[in-house]
Amino acid sequence: MTDKNSGTHGAILQDAAPEKDGVIVELRNAGKAYGNIRALHGVSLQVRPSQVTCVLGDNGAGKSTLIKIISGLHQHTEGEFLVDGAPVRFSTPRDALDKGIATVYQDLATVPLMPVWRNFFLGSEMTKGPWPVRRLDIEKMKKTADEELRNMGIILDNLEQPIGTLSGGQRQCVAIARAVYFGARVLILDEPTAALGVKQSGVVLKYIAAARDRGLGVIFITHNPHHAYMVGDHFSVLRLGTMELTASRDQVSLEELTNHMAGGAELAALKHELAQVSGVDVEELPEQEDLTAPVAAAPEGTP
Ligand SMILES: Nc1ncnc2c1ncn2[C@@H]1O[C@H](COP(=O)(O)OP(=O)(O)OP(=O)(O)O)[C@@H](O)[C@H]1O
Ligand SMILES: [Mg+2]
Repeated sequence: MTDKNSGTHGAILQDAAPEKDGVIVELRNAGKAYGNIRALHGVSLQVRPSQVTCVLGDNGAGKSTLIKIISGLHQHTEGEFLVDGAPVRFSTPRDALDKGIATVYQDLATVPLMPVWRNFFLGSEMTKGPWPVRRLDIEKMKKTADEELRNMGIILDNLEQPIGTLSGGQRQCVAIARAVYFGARVLILDEPTAALGVKQSGVVLKYIAAARDRGLGVIFITHNPHHAYMVGDHFSVLRLGTMELTASRDQVSLEELTNHMAGGAELAALKHELAQVSGVDVEELPEQEDLTAPVAAAPEGTP
């Protein structure tokens, strides 16, 4: 991680502030209303270094609203938002980046026709020479991008190829390596595997684990309990804007997590409806009781 100050503007600063109890980012009973619509209410979440915190939930559950608060796109309207133990209220994503909070959106902000190495440094290009003859340090950028991708275990044949020719999974991986290089402490990934097939999802999950092993606190947003359980240390399930479940890995099984995502009562109602349709065998479907296995809520301070 050298040379990162050579960028023309704004590498993500590595904030030297001490972390209270190892918690970098914390929400306490936080909420957000869009006018009359209460998108999020009473949500508490802790993000620690070297851990993957998974946020699960169905469409409209409030996942994107939650990460927009943390990434500085929106402000919370209730509760508290703390970074390194101090209350914060970000005005722009730049404020979040300055605290080391980087977000990789699903529609990645890349320039498809530009080479991989150029996208790696987009907005933070390395330059050389004195002003006013300062120019891009192309060789150094290529070399650094290559090294950093390799450090994360990402092997690409040719960094000159336009990033638009990479697969969706590969582009996500480049974005993760970029955030790591620019000193992110918290990496937010909004549904990085949603549009990917099984194999590519596996590749992205591998680099989520690699980012965690490099010491980052990762917030992994997903619909998919199987993906979450493969890499997650902590799980929060959102439902209609509130936190329905919060549990660490030793407190919840994959089966329980899947049942929470399926929504036990709704599945039972669906089963009843399907029973009216001839040709659907509802005997094989689980009962409501099977789907509402009790799960202990995480005690205060548990990772
Ligand atoms: N800018 C907005 N103005 C008004 N309502 C909004 C706005 N953004 C989100 N909402 C509402 O807030 C609720 C939560 O939306 P959010 O996008 O956070 O859900 P999500 O869990 O990310 O869903 P998805 O899985 O579909 O991405 C929804 O009811 C949505 O309609
Ligand atoms: Mg969303």
